[in-house]
Amino acid sequence: MTRRACVIGWPVEHSRSPVIHRYWLDEYGIDGAYEKEAVKPEDLDRFLQELSGHGYVGANVTLPHKEAALRAAGAADAAALAIGAANTLWLDEKGSLHASNTDAYGFVTNLDAEAPQWNEGIGAAMVLGAGGAARAILYGLLAAGVPRILLANRTKAKAEALARVFGPQIESIDWDGRAATLSACGLLINTTSLGMTGQPPLDIDISALPRSAVVADIVYAPLLTPLLVEAAKRGNAVVDGLGMLLHQAVPGFERWFGVRPHVTPALRAHVVATLGET
Ligand code: ATR
Repeated sequence: MTRRACVIGWPVEHSRSPVIHRYWLDEYGIDGAYEKEAVKPEDLDRFLQELSGHGYVGANVTLPHKEAALRAAGAADAAALAIGAANTLWLDEKGSLHASNTDAYGFVTNLDAEAPQWNEGIGAAMVLGAGGAARAILYGLLAAGVPRILLANRTKAKAEALARVFGPQIESIDWDGRAATLSACGLLINTTSLGMTGQPPLDIDISALPRSAVVADIVYAPLLTPLLVEAAKRGNAVVDGLGMLLHQAVPGFERWFGVRPHVTPALRAHVVATLGET
């Protein structure tokens, strides 16, 4: 019987998840399907209660449903609980809904793949932004053993709230102080939407950042954001946002379809070819 999964969002049209999962279904010759489901926030609980009735064994959830999906699940893993949001759901054999968050896994696994020395003698990391993506990345960095994280957000209260959630290794700093503090950092991560096509570029002077530091962006359209272009020009290793998106999909695919898929250059090229499309 064909196993089916989907991505649930509102809107969902721009999601790249179908491109990734359908590529793997084809590559591994699996009798499966992966659909897009546009579900309004007020309809999410009912849709998840009837997930099996809709023919699904599991789902990805994207904006704006990630927090509500966690609340709707009967069980959640440590990452989803700590991040306060779920991006991957599955039904167990009794029909009960499980939630996971694979964003932190995706981010750190991609860093390991693209900049394998990123965590050696790192000192501090600087994270820009304090939204949902920042929360997942903070969890991932702490789990990977980063000793100190400087967190800068335009609205400082949101950075301070995250520092309270994650503890003393997180230090919230002034947004205006972000450039000056870079000299202590072996890793700089943009988790804001700045630099995305149609958004203003991220405004940061990176001249104080050590050239040995890794610079990562979660934005993947364009693949090379103005931040990454500037960092690469001065010799920093750069990691774009697409790799995180590819790697976060791995655990869900394995859970639903029974094969642990590989993130390959061919998959990456396939997804890049669709980035201009909706
Ligand atoms: P997500 O959950 O996807 O991370 P979000 O919660 O909307 O998205 O977070 C967006 C982040 O980008 C926030 O940290 C936001 O800063 P504020 O908390 O001050 O809103 C940041 N951001 C968005 N536009 C910005 C801008 N023009 N300058 C600085 N930061 C900006």
